[in-house]
Amino acid sequence: MSAVSPNRPWWQEAVVYEVYPRSFADSDGDGIGDLAGVQSRLPYLSELGVDAIWMTPFYPSPLADGGYDVSDYRDVDPRLGTLAGFDELVATAAEYGIRVIVDLVPNHCSAEHPLFRAALTAPAGSPEREMFFFRDGRGAGGGEPPNNWQSVFHGTAWTRVTEPDGRPGQWYLHLFDAGQPDWNWRNPAVRGYFEEIIRFWLDRRAAGLRVDVAHGLFKDPDLTDLTEVPAAHAPSPYYHRAELRDLYQRWRVILDSYEPGEFPGTRTAVGEVWYDTAETLRLYLDGAGLPQVFNFQLVTARWDAAEMRTAIDAIEGLAGGDRAPWVIGNHDVARPVNRYAAGGAGAPNMSTGLPRVGDPELRAGVRRARAAALLMLALPGSAYIYQGEELGLPEVVELPDEARQDPTFRRSGGTDPGRDGCRVPLPWTSTGSSFGFSTGSRDGEHAAPWLPQPSYWGHYSVADQIGDPGSFLSLYRAALKLRRSHPALGLGPAGRAAPLMRWLDSAPDTLVFTREPGFIFAANLGEAPVPMPPHARVLLASEPVGDGKLAPDTAVWLAS
Ligand code: GLC
Repeated sequence: MSAVSPNRPWWQEAVVYEVYPRSFADSDGDGIGDLAGVQSRLPYLSELGVDAIWMTPFYPSPLADGGYDVSDYRDVDPRLGTLAGFDELVATAAEYGIRVIVDLVPNHCSAEHPLFRAALTAPAGSPEREMFFFRDGRGAGGGEPPNNWQSVFHGTAWTRVTEPDGRPGQWYLHLFDAGQPDWNWRNPAVRGYFEEIIRFWLDRRAAGLRVDVAHGLFKDPDLTDLTEVPAAHAPSPYYHRAELRDLYQRWRVILDSYEPGEFPGTRTAVGEVWYDTAETLRLYLDGAGLPQVFNFQLVTARWDAAEMRTAIDAIEGLAGGDRAPWVIGNHDVARPVNRYAAGGAGAPNMSTGLPRVGDPELRAGVRRARAAALLMLALPGSAYIYQGEELGLPEVVELPDEARQDPTFRRSGGTDPGRDGCRVPLPWTSTGSSFGFSTGSRDGEHAAPWLPQPSYWGHYSVADQIGDPGSFLSLYRAALKLRRSHPALGLGPAGRAAPLMRWLDSAPDTLVFTREPGFIFAANLGEAPVPMPPHARVLLASEPVGDGKLAPDTAVWLAS
């Protein structure tokens, strides 16, 4: 957050830290991170300087997709804690001035959810089945899926059920894993059910919601076949449907009904919306729907100054980073260090072909990820940091196949390595069997972390980095501290009343912009050193700067 925030909602310029709870900190030695682990690390998060945390799902779940298959939306997975523990986490976080955002998963539930189980035992056409998409199959004996839609996780988006009498029966739709049946959002009962869930968490003082697959809830009512494969994340019979506008307006009314004066203040909802072009985001950003949607411009753009500038302008032209927070990584995409080493191009959530620790190309990726962090944190609006980004953690490309848990790996027959490489439990200490991830113990022993940590993990640990002024962690801490104190950063003093950033003419391969009062950002994405723009003082640099030149893959914050 910036120093000057005249009555603006906190979320417009907040720095939010994404916690993937199973991989953050394990307080009871079972090898799985938990809520008490998060609570124990609040001092770390406070010193890092974040305004809020977003907790990815911690609800009861059979873990068909890392908890994004929810079997009870209003409880805590007993392996991770209890509802009372959640309340305690929220209350303790508040003492540090940290808000807690929870993940809402409205596109689908778990196949173990009681309402889906009830649908399985109810007849075709029953109200129970109308909560989901049950359809007869096509072809002889209904043996073919009802349409040709594909799952995001590979293979058909339909699974056939066995009817209670033992015969093969109808099929149900799942845009993701078979363990994640899609809800039928045209059914008012589904709307009502989720409104209760939203209130449940907001009543427990959650500061907001991150809305999973926010672009996917409504499907074309006829479930028509695709005539061609839509471009990735483009509007389609199942993405970016106009009906979402009305739904999110209703949710906004609920969010705004909470008292803004009391901590955590106005409540936000940030939609996970993957899109083809920034224009597709208009559906969500025009008018009073969801307060925010993520913008993935810095994830999808290549490491190229012209492309980055166009990507940034696309968001500034639509609504800005206050409505569309900036991110360079999350639990679904390969770590920035490896992604930017590979030039940033390609499918962001595949770790195939990425350089790994020990490869010389990774050095450029490390420099680029540091520069990208300074870029993200200098842009107007809000930013999200994914746990471990502040440590410069690399993607663990070399995870053994038998350790991989992501359903994309299994469903693709192993051709898609999946997203486990960015979910490896955090290293807190330089040594030790889990590098400090598991602290408490069960019978004096720690179970192994749920995903194996590589032997080099200790070099990236908090303990190794904390006293080193040249470390990733020190860079993030310094950047977040400056971001809080510098009046030009965050949303700036006047908010949207004034232009928030102005590009300066600069050499090719560079990005240079000013923010008022008195701030200049400069980055060199090219291969040769370039002169720094005129300035009074260097505030922060991603690499040492000495001779008035900006080295390749370096970014600086300057006082003008
Ligand atoms: C979102 C989540 C991802 C999950 C998917 C299905 O993209 O971020 O982790 O697999 O939705 O819920």
